[in-house]
Amino acid sequence: MVGLPGAGKTTRARQLAVAHRALRFTPDEWMIALFGDPEAGGRRDVLEGRLITVALQAVRVGTNVVLDFGLWGRDERSALRWLAASVGAPCRVIYLPVAPDVQRARVAHRQVVAPHTTFPMADADLDAWRCQFQEPDAAELGGAAIPAPPSGSAGWAQWAAGRWPSLSAGERA
Ligand SMILES: Nc1ncnc2c1ncn2[C@@H]1O[C@H](COP(=O)(O)OP(=O)(O)O)[C@@H](O)[C@H]1O
Ligand SMILES: [Mg+2]
Repeated sequence: MVGLPGAGKTTRARQLAVAHRALRFTPDEWMIALFGDPEAGGRRDVLEGRLITVALQAVRVGTNVVLDFGLWGRDERSALRWLAASVGAPCRVIYLPVAPDVQRARVAHRQVVAPHTTFPMADADLDAWRCQFQEPDAAELGGAAIPAPPSGSAGWAQWAAGRWPSLSAGERA
């Protein structure tokens, strides 16, 4: 799942999980349960690495998985597409765009009706995050060939191990 907060990722991910009998991994749920904080000093990256590791184990034994991560960066998406392919699993990038006014209304509504599922988000944060977000293009959404890893990186496996520290090469094997 790709999109900004309030885009509707978790809502869609729940639907996909039912429709495709899939495991759904929503890091916000884990971060709230474990630490009560969305980042917890970098622990989100560590958590996501473990969730990816479990996701790869699941798809290897034939279970569908929905990674409800947000995935703002193209390289993150490329790395995960590569990891899926490395274990022979088809992979879809699902992007939910959301206009700023709709996003603000949804985030505010969610904060009121389901504060235990989310974190306070200031309008200034939403604006800054939108600037950081790298929107997927048609090629990416259509499952086009995975681009080469960034220069200086030996490959997507190495890039992924740097991005998600708990994703070790040994455990992917
Ligand atoms: N397609 C939609 N139309 C209207 N409201 C939606 C839609 N999808 C989600 N919502 C509502 O918007 C809020 C944010 O949705 P959520 O799935 O939590 O977004 P995300 O996981 O991307 O942050 C929730 O209150 C949800 O009920
Ligand atoms: Mg969500």
